[in-house]
Amino acid sequence: MKYPENIFKKEEELLLQTYKRIPIEISHGEGVYLVSTDGKKYLDFFSGLAVNALGYGNKKVIQAIEEQIKKYIHLSNYYINSPQIELAERLVKYSGLSKVFFANSGTEAVEASLKLIRKHFGPEKKIITFSNAFHGRTYGSLSLSGKEKYKKYFSPLLPNIVQLEFNNVEQLEDNIDKNTAAVYLEFVQGEGGIQVTSNQFADKIIELRDRFKFALVADEVQCGIGRTGKPFAFNHYEIEPDLVIVAKAIGVGLPLGALITNKKYENVFHPGDHGSTFGGNPVACAAGLVVLNEVFENGLMNNVARLGEYFKSELNTLRKKYIQKINEVRGSGFMLGVELFKPCESLVKSFRDRSILVNCTNGNVLRILPPLISTKEDISIFIKEFNEILSPDV
Ligand SMILES: Cc1ncc(COP(=O)(O)O)c(C=O)c1O
Repeated sequence: MKYPENIFKKEEELLLQTYKRIPIEISHGEGVYLVSTDGKKYLDFFSGLAVNALGYGNKKVIQAIEEQIKKYIHLSNYYINSPQIELAERLVKYSGLSKVFFANSGTEAVEASLKLIRKHFGPEKKIITFSNAFHGRTYGSLSLSGKEKYKKYFSPLLPNIVQLEFNNVEQLEDNIDKNTAAVYLEFVQGEGGIQVTSNQFADKIIELRDRFKFALVADEVQCGIGRTGKPFAFNHYEIEPDLVIVAKAIGVGLPLGALITNKKYENVFHPGDHGSTFGGNPVACAAGLVVLNEVFENGLMNNVARLGEYFKSELNTLRKKYIQKINEVRGSGFMLGVELFKPCESLVKSFRDRSILVNCTNGNVLRILPPLISTKEDISIFIKEFNEILSPDV
């Protein structure tokens, strides 16, 4: 279908202007490519912000959705729906935790975790978050945010939330005590610029948790489900979080989020404490089963680990070549960041002019989030174009 000429004007007229949209009209997707209405094919290394793990038009996903739609699209959580149970079983298995609450999104899963923490620890104990953290846009998750620009118009936010510097071990030691209820951590910060938790930082959190018995909450919304080459980003460390939050890729494009708890916290909520009309929608859960199967059982995660290393080493080769332009390459698997010395918005435009979609976050970090099905050839195309973009002596 061709979009009407004035679609962008209409967008401005009709929608609250909360997004700065990319000025291309997408017709459809094919594998790792998005095709625009003017017939241009874009290599999509943004994958709907780490959602489209299996790219576009995956036949197994379509089949699972079709089959479930024919049975029932929605029941309400007054009934058991079997895709939910099957998906919970998988999430428990891969995370090593014990029970699941389903929501519709990342931020809603974070809200569920906050209510659980407050119920268990009471209102006075503090919750620790970190600079540049991002946990969502609703009031609770926004209160955890480490980015002032997202919070500045919206106070009062939740009380008793203390923000520390990410990866600053001393600050952990100085601020965490017996009055700490929880520590929220993205083991790899996404929005914050692909910042990776250091081993010393993770070790100190484990040591302090042993001492003060707070809950460690891993926000794996962006970095989970195989994206970093391991099931969850916390699997890169010797650590078992108490609560794990997932979303984005688990619905492969359908709205789905989940809070997973360990045994210690599995009985905090009682009927009526929390709920959601659509949370754990059966169609989304049926799609989620496909992605978990592909990532964990059919070898996709191992490909991501292997190709992610190749990708990172190629990016580091570019860094050596353009040492005056690239400061650092970070991340693992298919969650990679290239920190530049200058803002990267214009770089994103240069990529788009060369038919590649990629993102810029935190001002100067090129955030690369390819679909997990991307191949070595796809990566080579990206590297070749990046090299050409960087090569002019400007
Ligand atoms: C780490 C992290 N947590 C939470 C969220 C919020 O998820 P959602 O946008 O599905 O509400 C995001 C979204 O980008 C995220 O990256």
